[in-house]
Amino acid sequence: MADQYARSGEENGAAAIPAIRWDEPPEGPVLALLDQRRLPAEEVELVCTDAPALVDAIRTLAVRGAPLLGIAGAYGVALAAARGFDVDEAAAALAGARPTAVNLAVGVRRAQAAYRAAFADGGDLRQAAEAALTAARALHREDAEASARMARHGLELLDELLPGGGHRLLTHCNTGALVSGGEGTAFAVALAAHRAGRLRRLWVDETRPLLQGARLTAYEAARNGMAYTLLTDNAAGSLFAAGEVDAVLIGADRIAADGSVANKVGSYPLAVLARYHHVPFIVVAPVTTVDPETPDGASIEVEQRPGHEVTEFTAPQVQVAGAEAGGGIPVAPLGTQAYNPAFDVTPPELVTAIVTEEGVASPVTADSLAALCDRSRQV
Ligand code: MRU
Repeated sequence: MADQYARSGEENGAAAIPAIRWDEPPEGPVLALLDQRRLPAEEVELVCTDAPALVDAIRTLAVRGAPLLGIAGAYGVALAAARGFDVDEAAAALAGARPTAVNLAVGVRRAQAAYRAAFADGGDLRQAAEAALTAARALHREDAEASARMARHGLELLDELLPGGGHRLLTHCNTGALVSGGEGTAFAVALAAHRAGRLRRLWVDETRPLLQGARLTAYEAARNGMAYTLLTDNAAGSLFAAGEVDAVLIGADRIAADGSVANKVGSYPLAVLARYHHVPFIVVAPVTTVDPETPDGASIEVEQRPGHEVTEFTAPQVQVAGAEAGGGIPVAPLGTQAYNPAFDVTPPELVTAIVTEEGVASPVTADSLAALCDRSRQV
């Protein structure tokens, strides 16, 4: 079950409502999400009391972005355990809610493994549920720490690649505090540049069709007082041609072992543009986004979304009376088929660097990535 509560935000900085919050009111434990479908118009919490409600929130993008999906998945297992539901069933449903962001399944498995281990050690249901929650909280905390370290490594890299300062950075989709236990991935680097006085402009792709750039990244940039400009995805080419982009900074949903990067659809065309215009194309993601089990880009499952997201104009949750399938304003003839992959895959040779909390892989190769993953396992 899910409920909605409106709460007011702060004037500056990240939203007053955290992207995700575990709570234990007298009625029982809940997972409260800042409902990203409603941003930027309203800051409303969506309160989930069971895994099916969370699965729906994930599918409809109330909660989204690779690192946050991992955290949500782990808390979802803890929620099922604490409420006495079938944990394995909940874990399977959560892990399968969206296929591309590997963090989701990783987060789910981590909490599920903690739950099972507690039983194996002779614990009872309550102790196993507590173990799942402890695992979710640890993942949440680690993601916040990883975010701060990625921001540091990313800013150092920018300063190395662009020694003059005054960076003009182009970003796609949304990669800030709304997708993380901390300040995010690519956006956290831009924010660090802003705080260091080295960000001249953040170019924000609107990110069709669900407008994560316009609705969410512009919202975060405005709250942080950053100099930003919104553009349609199609305007990026002329921006590069005008020499207005110093670097591209994006996040990732899954990075294959060979360094291929799956990220929000529209990332690959930016990588091609960046290469043509000799501009660095930088991917920022935690090590948990690297999937050694996925050998290459062709092996990454790309989520296909419903066609109405393209044939109708709507924010995910905005309903328009009398409208067609998705509740939005039709922008194509009735019955039009749409091609709507949520992500695309950029091959490693187009990626200048992958920034993780463990350091930077550049050039991007299977070996340079594996070295970062090994470093993280040694900690
Ligand atoms: O479909 P979404 O909004 O979940 O897609 C999110 C992205 O593509 C982000 O760029 C990606 O998860 C990286 S966020 C750190």
